[in-house]
Amino acid sequence: MKYGITGKQGQTLKAILCVKVFADGPDKNDCGNLHPEAMKLFKSGALPSEPGRKTVHVIGGKKILFLGAGALKDYTKEKAREINARFVREAKAMNETGLVINPALHAKASAEGAFLASYVFDMFKTKKDTGSIEIFFAGADKTKSAEIRDAAILCGNVFLARDLANTPSNVATPEYVASFAEEKLKGLKNLKVTVRDEKWIKKQGMNAFYAVSKGSGVPPRFVEIEYRGAKGNKHAAIIGKGITFDSGGISIKPQSTPLGGIEEMKFDMSGAAAVFAMIRTVAQLGVKVNLNVYMPLTDNMPDGNAYKPGDIIETMAGITVEVISTDAEGRLILCDAIEYARRKKPEYIADIATLTGACSVTFGGITSGVMGNDRMLVANMKKAGDETGELVWELPLHEQYYEWIKGKYADIRNTGTVPKAGTITAGMFLKEFVKDTPWVHVDIAGTAYGITHKPYIPDTGSGMGARLLFDFVKKQEGLE
Ligand code: BES
Ligand code: MN
Ligand code: ZN
Repeated sequence: MKYGITGKQGQTLKAILCVKVFADGPDKNDCGNLHPEAMKLFKSGALPSEPGRKTVHVIGGKKILFLGAGALKDYTKEKAREINARFVREAKAMNETGLVINPALHAKASAEGAFLASYVFDMFKTKKDTGSIEIFFAGADKTKSAEIRDAAILCGNVFLARDLANTPSNVATPEYVASFAEEKLKGLKNLKVTVRDEKWIKKQGMNAFYAVSKGSGVPPRFVEIEYRGAKGNKHAAIIGKGITFDSGGISIKPQSTPLGGIEEMKFDMSGAAAVFAMIRTVAQLGVKVNLNVYMPLTDNMPDGNAYKPGDIIETMAGITVEVISTDAEGRLILCDAIEYARRKKPEYIADIATLTGACSVTFGGITSGVMGNDRMLVANMKKAGDETGELVWELPLHEQYYEWIKGKYADIRNTGTVPKAGTITAGMFLKEFVKDTPWVHVDIAGTAYGITHKPYIPDTGSGMGARLLFDFVKKQEGLE
């Protein structure tokens, strides 16, 4: 991610100038220093202002990219993300090496949109992408410059989350993800990373997590990240599902379903990637908060050693679970992580997971599901969603659903007796384990990858959750 901040309008830079065309007429921020000829063009009404309409002109030897931006009063943060992402995409398509944008309106969101759109994943291509582009922010004052720098840090970490998610499971094993996190968090202030192995997991009594890992040829890892940026010893716990590949196990998945191909199950660790990106941002920006982040990491594979449908597991919490489907493995690794987190008495627990295909069916990749036992946590997650554009919407955890996960041979079962409301029954399962701890759960099954409706999100791993959680933890602290 290459970027520069300049106080001037960027007329002298070797870069294409990007100008928003509002329906209300030239905006002084974008057009303050524009060539008189360009202003003339503006005033002639020849530049379309309908959202997304593009025109390119060369004026005074300078290339200018105009994009319709609609009415100024409708120019929200999300619109700023989108149009600045479009600027980057268009400039790249034109083989430009740099572009100048003006972040005067919604500086942070503008920078986010531009940065996030510049993401490239070519780790496994022998021919690397050569179209790296430099983003210049013109006319930013001190405050806005600081916002842009913060956005660069946040987006850099979203890139790491996307990289982790995109890296396939033959490379991104639990060990790899754990070492990656350890490496990238090294030297950060107030932060401690501990990586636990199989032996430790067993000894803790994390039998559900361990059961899921048994069928895999690669060993599981449990990553614990402690960050103490605030006074006092109160902390919150944030957990991310880290299934490095979800084959379904003995309840093996078909090659493809209407939701996508099984190869996409490398993305099943997107929750873990998101919590890692969030805590790295928190530490780099020195946010005054205390957090414990947990990443249970394992493959879910079939094998002679694999756990099986019908197996009964005594979880770390002592609750017994009958395994109906080995493909409902996410809740099994999360329930032990929740119990481990809970024993340290956090103020609240938040978890994020690609938990249910049903969530993708419900929200279709536009919105993530949110559930919880605490109004305030759910409300703040919604607010964080509105703020960041990583939208969430609540599903109910009505008591009646509990009947569907009640066990016949054990306390509870890991799938519902009724093949409906799959996102909710998964939520009900987790709810049993958090007990009295205030808790919020985000299901990102539909939003973690394959997004095609946003110019700043690639259709590969989206990095969903990193920006949402970063905003959420600050809101919880009353910092934003
Ligand atoms: N990782 C999947 C959920 C998923 C599905 C994420 C599609 C993204 C796209 C999860 O482990 C799973 O397999 N859930 C099952 C639960 C069922 C067996 C109760 C599902 O959704 O089918
Ligand atoms: Mn599964
Ligand atoms: Zn899964």
